[in-house]
Amino acid sequence: MSSSPNPPHCLTKIQKITDEEFSRFQRLIYDLAGISMCPAKKVMVSSRLQRRLVHYGLNRFGDYYRLVTGNAHPGEMQILVDLLTTNETYFFREPAHFNFLRESILSQPTANPFRVWSAACSSGEEVYSLAMVLADKLNTKTWEIMGSDLSERVLFQAQRGHYRIERNEGISHDHLRKYCLKGVRSQAGTFLIDEKLKEHVKFRQINLMRKLPNIGRFDLIFLRNVMIYFDQETKKEVVHRISTQLKSGGHLFISHTESLHGIAPELKKVSPSILQKL
Ligand SMILES: C[S@@+](CC[C@H](N)C(=O)[O-])C[C@H]1O[C@@H](n2cnc3c(N)ncnc32)[C@H](O)[C@@H]1O
Repeated sequence: MSSSPNPPHCLTKIQKITDEEFSRFQRLIYDLAGISMCPAKKVMVSSRLQRRLVHYGLNRFGDYYRLVTGNAHPGEMQILVDLLTTNETYFFREPAHFNFLRESILSQPTANPFRVWSAACSSGEEVYSLAMVLADKLNTKTWEIMGSDLSERVLFQAQRGHYRIERNEGISHDHLRKYCLKGVRSQAGTFLIDEKLKEHVKFRQINLMRKLPNIGRFDLIFLRNVMIYFDQETKKEVVHRISTQLKSGGHLFISHTESLHGIAPELKKVSPSILQKL
């Protein structure tokens, strides 16, 4: 089988994904990323993977499953992960969290350096929102933010920090003026995050389902809008792994739509979506 894309005239008629084929992909993404996909996701899986079948000139999802799990195309697994993860995000999502950070955490004496981890950062909007708040409040102190995700595709976008102009909703005029460079000429309709924020930020690929690399401990961890894809057992495992990276007194932020009820006794609830390590 060739790894190069098929020319357009080789388009094959793709057979509908069967229940058996879907359940194999379901198991695979669960084992790889901890993501639980219910049967209603069958249409999504089929439409997101279809173009890979076209790419290889395959007409059955079962053949693509064999290709992805075989040895001939080692890079294909990452492409599958990139396609099956949901990466929706935006600047200053859930603004109450940024207000709490500004008014309750950064108004107190803080560690120097102040270390933050955005642990499923998608294309970087969460990281740069945090960076804007930290730059405002900690200008004379050292601070650093690590953004991580499982998907290589989004990390590449995050690293660039280059966004379409309509993504700037949620960023205040003051922050736009201070930290975002408006594109001109060939870059019109886009903006770029300023180097003075980027120099405090780094990104790396981390799978929250695996043993964590040596990343040190953090004053603040954002783990938002990723646990919705995990079952209870996976959630427990991931939260335990994450909370060991929090300094004592450090804060964990989860989404308002998520709950850690009965999961993490080592974390004290400050509000429904903000927890503090004892
Ligand atoms: C919906 S986005 C959330 C982005 C951001 N935290 C926010 O709240 O806007 C979820 C992200 O979790 C990532 N993800 C899913 N499973 C993961 C895993 N096992 N390890 C690390 N990241 C994962 C996805 O790639 C995706 O970018």
